[in-house]
Amino acid sequence: MNKYEIRVILLSASVLSVFFFAILYNTFARKIDVPVCIPYNASFRKSIVKQVDNLHYEAYVKAKMWSYDPGEITVPAGSTVDFYLTSADVVHGFHIERKAVNLMAVPGAVNLVTVRFEEPGTYRVVCHEYCGAGHQNMMGKVIVTR
Ligand code: CUA
Repeated sequence: MNKYEIRVILLSASVLSVFFFAILYNTFARKIDVPVCIPYNASFRKSIVKQVDNLHYEAYVKAKMWSYDPGEITVPAGSTVDFYLTSADVVHGFHIERKAVNLMAVPGAVNLVTVRFEEPGTYRVVCHEYCGAGHQNMMGKVIVTR
């Protein structure tokens, strides 16, 4: 191995450790929820919003051509919502505006992300994955009340 190879290996290793550190930093220090893919759960048949606890909700959302079910989710300000997301047909996107949520709705799989809504208002949910003729109109809403 010559000295250039060693330099390249060291450089690659340091770039990789910066990326790895960035992931850990965002997850733990900035407490950004990293979405997880959970095994498809047969109990997820119904699209519903369940209240688990005071200010803690679970939303089972099914994306399909070209809407979300439920299309509108209403929670009080200060709520934490666990979104369980799947698709009934093709791959869709799930982006909640003003939130760092960027998920894919994949048929046969469930993706889970936890979001905290402090500010009251309407947060649009948009499909950002091309899914056919009605893609540009595929939208949902999270309404956060006072
Ligand atoms: Cu659903 Cu694009």
